Amino acid sequence: MGNWMIINASPRAPRSNSKRYAQMVSQCYEGTVAYCPLTKTNHSELLAKMDGISDLLFVFPLYADALPVSLLHFLKFLEEHPPAHRPTVSVLINCGFLEPEQNEIAVEMMRLFCRQNEYPFGSVLEIGSGEAILDSPFRFLIAGKIRRFVRSIAERNYRTLRVTMPLTKGMFVRAAESYWVNYGKQNGVTKEQMQTMQIE
Ligand SMILES: Cc1cc2nc3c(=O)[nH]c(=O)nc-3n(C[C@H](O)[C@H](O)[C@H](O)COP(=O)(O)O)c2cc1C
Repeated sequence: MGNWMIINASPRAPRSNSKRYAQMVSQCYEGTVAYCPLTKTNHSELLAKMDGISDLLFVFPLYADALPVSLLHFLKFLEEHPPAHRPTVSVLINCGFLEPEQNEIAVEMMRLFCRQNEYPFGSVLEIGSGEAILDSPFRFLIAGKIRRFVRSIAERNYRTLRVTMPLTKGMFVRAAESYWVNYGKQNGVTKEQMQTMQIE
């Protein structure tokens, strides 16, 4: 059974959805998994840990239809400092919007990186409604897909899987709006304030 390494490339790694997805992956896999949050300063440390790893799983959110910039920096570092042995790269990506296909461009960026840098490419799990689904009644859908994702990597039977909440777009937009309006209220911010550029 191979040794896996999960890199959580969410810029908010300690409090991220990616961390929760990574934990679910680790719980499903019976072999050894090293969980590593990506930071601005730990690139060399992560590279050193790749020694003896069979599978490298990047777990991260979609940012502006692409990769978070912190992950781009790490990929650039890997281009300049390739590991002696290249593990198979798999990707688990989650986005805020309902449609998992929103993640396609980011997955293509990861594939291109792997092709250009001679990493074998493994499986993909694209999650839509990634901010909401884990605390919804549809959490079981994620659990099932993560089990299949883990099995596909372990058995080297690579595939692309997708999962999201089974809601219409209208229902999703209404539920998301009431969630964020309530969230703002709890923090003393109105909907009108959230609609301005001063929100930051
Ligand atoms: C700066 C920024 C850009 C984002 N861009 C997108 C996007 O283009 N499409 C999308 O569906 N979600 C987008 N999101 C939402 C995140 O992908 C979503 O909240 C995700 O669950 C965050 O995962 P994390 O907690 O692991 O970081 C964005 C979030 C942030 C903060």
